[in-house]
Amino acid sequence: MGIILSYLSYLWNGDAGAAAPAIDWDRTDPATGLTARQKKFVTDTWELVKKDIKGNGVELFIRFFERRPDAVPRFRSFVGVPLEELRHSKRLLAHTNSVMYALDSVVASLDDPECLHEMLLKMGENHGRRRVTEQEFLDLKVVLMDLLKDKLDIHLNEEGEEAWSKTIDVAYKGIFEGMKSEVVQ
Ligand code: HEM
Repeated sequence: MGIILSYLSYLWNGDAGAAAPAIDWDRTDPATGLTARQKKFVTDTWELVKKDIKGNGVELFIRFFERRPDAVPRFRSFVGVPLEELRHSKRLLAHTNSVMYALDSVVASLDDPECLHEMLLKMGENHGRRRVTEQEFLDLKVVLMDLLKDKLDIHLNEEGEEAWSKTIDVAYKGIFEGMKSEVVQ
């Protein structure tokens, strides 16, 4: 935890550019609305989440299903399976891996908005076909933010929280666009 806190204070106190003075850390990328500092924070802290990408992915969805038990039937094979059993299910792991690696691609593509947009549209179309709702995504965001705060202690730093919130919003903007084009009313 000490290492994480020192890292956060290093990044936010303005020293992050010390080794690379050419970077304007406060410049906002018009495509994502994120500053260079926010992007660096998100990519660096995601590396910490990735240290236990499987465990964190399963935890994310178990917490999501606790919050939204009505969303479990979206996953046909999970219907009727108790949450504690799901926690150890390879099927849940297979799905959460897909989600976590998709998030990994989102983070990795923050500097390539066109590629990011295409990827998000596709993801939205796939979820629209499954009738996943925007509200389910928004509830997953609440759970994801809580998980990040628990894992990264970013609750100590409002700016870090804002960086992550904005990143998820960027992802959802593209996903929701794709969902709207696909969902049958
Ligand atoms: C950050 C949010 C999310 C990301 C990045 C994400 C990503 C993915 C990916 C990459 C796949 C596999 C590829 C595909 O078939 O599209 C997938 C499958 C799926 N997702 Fe999501 N997803 C998210 C949120 C949700 C939510 C909120 C729900 C429903 C409540 C959901 C339901 C599903 C279902 C039912 C599948 C198919 C699973 C299967 O066939 O076993 N996803 N998701």
